Amino acid sequence: MLQLTPQTIRIIDVYDDGTHARHFTFEPKGFVHDEPISIGQFFMLTVPGAGLAPFTYTSIPDKTGRFKALIRNVGHLTKKVFSLGKGDVLGYNGPFGRGWPVGLVMHKEVLIVAGGCGLAPVASTIDYLIKGGSSNSVTLLYASFDIASQVLKKERARWSSSINLFETLEVGGVSGRSGLPTQYLSHLLNKNDRHPDIVLTCGPEAMMMAVAKSCLDLGLKASDIWMSIERRMRCGVGLCGHCYVANSYACKQGPTYRYDEFVALENKTVAFEKHQGLFQYC
Ligand SMILES: Cc1cc2nc3c(=O)[nH]c(=O)nc-3n(C[C@H](O)[C@H](O)[C@H](O)COP(=O)(O)OP(=O)(O)OC[C@H]3O[C@@H](n4cnc5c(N)ncnc54)[C@H](O)[C@@H]3O)c2cc1C
Ligand code: FES
Repeated sequence: MLQLTPQTIRIIDVYDDGTHARHFTFEPKGFVHDEPISIGQFFMLTVPGAGLAPFTYTSIPDKTGRFKALIRNVGHLTKKVFSLGKGDVLGYNGPFGRGWPVGLVMHKEVLIVAGGCGLAPVASTIDYLIKGGSSNSVTLLYASFDIASQVLKKERARWSSSINLFETLEVGGVSGRSGLPTQYLSHLLNKNDRHPDIVLTCGPEAMMMAVAKSCLDLGLKASDIWMSIERRMRCGVGLCGHCYVANSYACKQGPTYRYDEFVALENKTVAFEKHQGLFQYC
């Protein structure tokens, strides 16, 4: 049943990671999740006096119900979250949305391209693939502005011994690598033994679109590219319409979209806007 009244979660651990980003571990207080949570789904956090906002699980709830999220301090609500610490309680609803297509990625050659904090929503997928014995088939291309804006330092250190990890910075290169992620795609996609079956990308929308375009130019199919789309969300359940992508609700049909589906929706939006333009002349 649709449950809109927030349940209560307690902060049980906090640590900083990168510039203005902090990991929070939450524990449910007096409830258990009554449906399984898929990797890439999100939850709504209610902050008394500040409102509610969507965040992705960087680790989905374990047996005790504990889960983690990486939160950036960007505005009114997140500033309030950063003023809280261990023991403080918040409101919670979830899970929401459609996660990553994990059924399609296991034992396939997977390329993940993440930008900045966009690494957080793919973290659980990487852990899932490593746990499932698929680490040799995972390549992560992680792009950030500078070293201070990189996140998930501990996780990247852990992953570096099992997956194929490439990092690039726009300012100040890592191991000689600098610039945009798209500069490295042809190298990664053309490696004979590692041509990806599927690409997952998460980060600024302009980056994801550029990555998708480069992948298409390099011979991948649009239906093999998946992205996580960020939209302003209020209800998370398809009621308020804040998150429309054409006639799709990003909170329900997304936030992960297959690239060809997303482009078709975007084209519908353009057609609709043109149609509205016609009305202006009537
Ligand atoms: C499905 C989904 C998952 C998300 N997961 C995470 C996560 O794991 N960690 C995390 O830190 N953030 C995540 N976000 C973004 C997070 O919800 C926003 O940063 C938060 O709502 C900002 O609230 P605020 O009141 O602090 O900022 P505001 O004061 O509301 O805004 C601060 C600035 O951020 C911009 N902004 C706020 N929300 C969005 C948005 N949805 N899309 C684009 N720009 C926005 C505003 O335009 C403004 O410039 C996610 C968003 C979505 C839709
Ligand atoms: S957030 Fe309300 S409809 Fe999607």
